[in-house]
Amino acid sequence: MPAIPAPFPPALTAPGAAHGPWVALLEAWDLPAGSMRRVTRGELDLLLVHTPAGIVVTDGRCPHMSAPLSIGSLDGCVVACPLHEGRFDLCSGDPVRMPTTGGLDPDGVYHPTWSPSGGAPKTDPPGLKADARRLTRVRRFRYYPVRIADGVIQAAIPDPPA
Ligand code: FES
Repeated sequence: MPAIPAPFPPALTAPGAAHGPWVALLEAWDLPAGSMRRVTRGELDLLLVHTPAGIVVTDGRCPHMSAPLSIGSLDGCVVACPLHEGRFDLCSGDPVRMPTTGGLDPDGVYHPTWSPSGGAPKTDPPGLKADARRLTRVRRFRYYPVRIADGVIQAAIPDPPA
């Protein structure tokens, strides 16, 4: 079956991407169903994912603290970050599991630091580090429009600043 681009929330298009030039990223056969790859262009790390809904291209860095998602794991549309176990739905851009560090979700709702089920709630000693954790916000993904031309996955990415 030929690879197809997946729909994604248009409101989450990366700034400048909607009008950016199409850039060849990867041969489509190099991204089989259920796989993901990192491709870097300039200072931009991109994550290419072949989900059950089709191919999406997002920022390659976790919307929590920028860990490389390409070395995480993929289950359907959900990518798991290798650093703090956050899980993010590539079909909606939303976190499906907050990072274990806690903090603010994209809607600004606070989530406490994770603790094992049945265990006592984990508390940080008060101080700057605890404040930083409490105020750290998880973003939604940013997406890059995708097309497949002549068997090559292309994405519209912003021109690098001059
Ligand atoms: S960097 Fe990904 S969950 Fe923290």
